[in-house]
Amino acid sequence: MRLLLILCCITVTWGGPSPHADLVQKYVEAEYGGRFSNNIIADALTDVPGLISRYNYPVEVHTVTTPDGYVLQMHRIPHGRDRNNRPGNKTAVFLQHGMLSSSADYVIVGPENSLAYRLAEEGYDVWMGNARGNYYSRKHTHLDPDDRSNLDFWRFSWEEIGSIDMPTCIDYILDLKGHKKLHFVGFSQGGTVFLVMGALRPEYSEKIISFQGLAPASYFVNNEYGFIKAIAPYEKVLMVLAADAGIGEFLGRSNIFTALGIAACSDQSFLQPLCLAVPILGNSFQRLNATMLPAYIGHAPAGMSIRQLAHYGQSINNKSFRRYDLGLAGNMQNYGQFYPPEYDLSGITCPSYIHYSYRDKLVNYRDVELMSTKLGGPVTMYPVEDRLFTHLDFCWGVDQVKMYHGNVLEGMRLAENL
Ligand SMILES: *[C@@H]1O[C@H](CO)[C@@H](O)[C@H](O)[C@H]1NC(C)=O
Ligand SMILES: *[C@@H]1O[C@H](CO)[C@@H](O)[C@H](O)[C@H]1NC(C)=O
Ligand SMILES: *[C@@H]1O[C@H](CO)[C@@H](O)[C@H](O)[C@H]1NC(C)=O
Repeated sequence: MRLLLILCCITVTWGGPSPHADLVQKYVEAEYGGRFSNNIIADALTDVPGLISRYNYPVEVHTVTTPDGYVLQMHRIPHGRDRNNRPGNKTAVFLQHGMLSSSADYVIVGPENSLAYRLAEEGYDVWMGNARGNYYSRKHTHLDPDDRSNLDFWRFSWEEIGSIDMPTCIDYILDLKGHKKLHFVGFSQGGTVFLVMGALRPEYSEKIISFQGLAPASYFVNNEYGFIKAIAPYEKVLMVLAADAGIGEFLGRSNIFTALGIAACSDQSFLQPLCLAVPILGNSFQRLNATMLPAYIGHAPAGMSIRQLAHYGQSINNKSFRRYDLGLAGNMQNYGQFYPPEYDLSGITCPSYIHYSYRDKLVNYRDVELMSTKLGGPVTMYPVEDRLFTHLDFCWGVDQVKMYHGNVLEGMRLAENL
């Protein structure tokens, strides 16, 4: 009965299903009907455009095709709802999500807490990217992501997201608006891909008013976290497994992790403390609201290529930030040398504002500080003062507003007045 009610309300909204809608729905119906609030379930079932329109914000979906054929979806909030709520010649801000995630990173905790809504209210034209291979960008002009006999669709890591997807999205937005520059916000892997773009296509620095890095991932020199150390040795195994089994995709669709998550995280489940420590997330968020878990689970993971994970594995093992290691022969063929070249960050000349936290286990603060010394432009460091703030709090936390939103806005305005 309750489910019917939910279904009726979803259909009147604008969007389609979220990545894990079918699973959330199955579990809600079979096991936990009625235990979560309708509102949270609705957030869990609908996709990002649906979510945004559910909260009465304007939303647009734009698709762009990269030069190598990937069809990417961008989600736009062109203006605010309560303030600055008329279309106009607003400065664009582009937000890029973290690993295994999507544009949901910037809206998932609702209008009061999420960065995308805040920026729209402050008068910006907000654009959210989706990396090739995720739920919204799992499309290509001629390659099939589901073809198990040909993995060409999945032959990319975050290097291609940085060097091809980001420039394609940025040029599209700037052309459409007739502007020369925009702000770039990147969370975690969203920061990685900005750095890659700056290293391989330094001319794009000219198009950036400011780079706001939210726990941007790059070096893993100082990372002593067990989970990071544990995945690193499997980097080569992962690649071989992937090729043998015909799998190029990692955690894309509904899967066992999602099912376990829902079982453990319903409101009245005695397992709820457990779900706050899901091993893969490794205590990486403290401020999360357990009641919101169905919403997180509906939207993440949103899929990526195995190579993205393997590339981080290489960075961890080699303690360097460099291009994808294709083996001696492949490296010689592609890079003209036996070992992959390091990313040179000195061409990143736009002003950078780096937001990070001391308790972040996935992206260690000393590695963020190391990265910041390599940038070619002016850098301002904004460590989050709260000592409990960790990695996923940047997008999933319920008190992000006072923790770092103000600093992002301050950094953007400082850069605009440079
Ligand atoms: C729109 O804004 C841009 C940059 O903010 C400015 O260069 C341009 O002149 C503006 N265009 C109009 C029509 O106001
Ligand atoms: C957690 O989320 C629920 C549902 O949105 C809300 O009612 C509650 O106030 C939130 N708790 C905190 C601490 O934000
Ligand atoms: C990283 O790889 C280079 C070869 O490109 C090698 O000389 C170096 O020792 C490696 N570093 C580590 C920490 O394994």
